[in-house]
Amino acid sequence: MKIALGSDHGGIELKRDIIKHLEKKGIEIKDFGTYTEESCDYPDFALKVAEEVASKNYDFGILVCGTGIGISISANKVPGIRAALCHDTFSAHATREHNDANILALGGRIVGVGLALDIVDAFLNAEFQGGRHERRVNKITEIEKKYSK
Ligand code: RB5
Repeated sequence: MKIALGSDHGGIELKRDIIKHLEKKGIEIKDFGTYTEESCDYPDFALKVAEEVASKNYDFGILVCGTGIGISISANKVPGIRAALCHDTFSAHATREHNDANILALGGRIVGVGLALDIVDAFLNAEFQGGRHERRVNKITEIEKKYSK
C-alpha cells in the first residue's frame, strides 16, 4: 500500500506523527509538503496529493490542515477524488466501506494524536463494500462529469 500525505502549517505536526506511525507499520509513504511551520496555503498541498491519488500513483491520500475543512474541500475539486473529513473512527471506516473514499482529511487543531492514529488505521483497514454503495458512488461520478464539461 502506498500513501501520499500533505498538510499546511496547521496540520504539519499531526502529519509528522502520522508519517512515523505509517513508517513503523512498514507502509510506503511520500510527503508532498509542506515541510516547515511557515504559514502557507492548504489548496497547494491538497492539489498535489489529490492529483497523485487521482492518477493512481498512490492508493490513498492523507491530508491535514488546522480543521481539515479547507484541505478536504480543495481535494474534492479534483475529478476522481472522494476526500472524507473524519474525526471519529466510525466515520473513518464507514467512508471507505460506503463512499469508497480515497483521501482521509484530518484537522490537526481538532483531534489529539492518539485518536488521529486510530482514525488513520480505521480508514486504511476498511474495504469498500460495493453493491448498493457502488451505485451511489457512480452517481457521485455522474455529478462530477456533468460539471466537468
Ligand atoms: C490556517 O490557519 C487554517 O485556516 C487552515 O489550516 C485550515 O484550518 C483551513 O481550513
